[in-house]
Amino acid sequence: MEKQTMNLTRFLIEEQRKYPHASGVFTELFSEIALAAKIISREVNKAGLVDILGYTGSKNVTGDEVKKLDLFANNTMKHILCRGGNVIGLASEEEEEAVQCERGKYLVVFDPLDGSSNIDVNVSIGTIFGIYNKMDDFVDEKQFMRPGRELVAAGYIIYGSSTMFVYSTGNGVHGFTLDPSVGEFILSHKDIKIPKKGKIFSINTGNYKKWDEKLKNYIDFITTPDKKTQRPYSLRYIGSLVADFHRNLLYGGIFLYPKDMAHPNGKLRLLYEAQPLAFIVEQAGGYASDGYTPILDKVPHDIHERTPLFIGSIENVKELEQFLQK
Ligand code: AHG
Ligand code: MN
Ligand code: MN
Repeated sequence: MEKQTMNLTRFLIEEQRKYPHASGVFTELFSEIALAAKIISREVNKAGLVDILGYTGSKNVTGDEVKKLDLFANNTMKHILCRGGNVIGLASEEEEEAVQCERGKYLVVFDPLDGSSNIDVNVSIGTIFGIYNKMDDFVDEKQFMRPGRELVAAGYIIYGSSTMFVYSTGNGVHGFTLDPSVGEFILSHKDIKIPKKGKIFSINTGNYKKWDEKLKNYIDFITTPDKKTQRPYSLRYIGSLVADFHRNLLYGGIFLYPKDMAHPNGKLRLLYEAQPLAFIVEQAGGYASDGYTPILDKVPHDIHERTPLFIGSIENVKELEQFLQK
């Protein structure tokens, strides 16, 4: 029997039928994000052709060309969302302040291009987004100072060997793979659940000397051979949060970006990196914390606030918390 191909729009409409309160606006908003994703995907994939086709004649995509892609991705998301009439305001890693749009029911937070320093070595990068109900038609930073538990949806797009759109509206996590020949995101991973425990850990061990003792004890513990508890774990670190997160979501494991002497509050941003991924991982049966507090319970004090981030299989993150809270 021919496998039924379900595309993102059809899936959203069917989801929306199940939840009468969900208006079609949500489906429209997701379609706008999907359009932005396709445009960014095309541009990011072209970046790989820069040195082959000599678009700019440069050897590699230089730092400012990478910066240009960050800004291209940001402008694409901003213009499509702000113009669509569904988004009253947005907050972006590439925008110093909150951005006021004309009208709409929702607020959107996003990291337009995550892992962008990896573009010129053809490593997967991504876009991360979260959606809130608006509180007011006038949008300033205060509208974003709320716990991630208030997110109504979150998702990410990963631009890798294929372009995937992974999201949750609070009813499970679903993944769609872009078929570039028809420009449609096709359902490929329905109802993703992260393994309760995994054997992968992702951390930049180059910072080992800067970590506090309790974190070192945890890393020493998981790398000490012990057959019974399936140790040592395997280290997998791509350096693109979206790529490391996506692999661990499917295979199980823990991603760690702790605070260290160089980053007293960690490096990753609470509002548009940690919270959306924490929403997704909890919907998939996983967990995310800063070592002490669930990420989804934290309230940012400013749009670009940083946080330590430990995210992935619930048993792995809880085990890490025990070491930090000893
Ligand atoms: P961005 O490109 O949006 O600034 O994010 C980069 C982040 C994240 O993608 C990744 O996990 C982390 O930087 C890697 O940091 P280190 O190079 O310090 O390990
Ligand atoms: Mn990022
Ligand atoms: Mn970014």
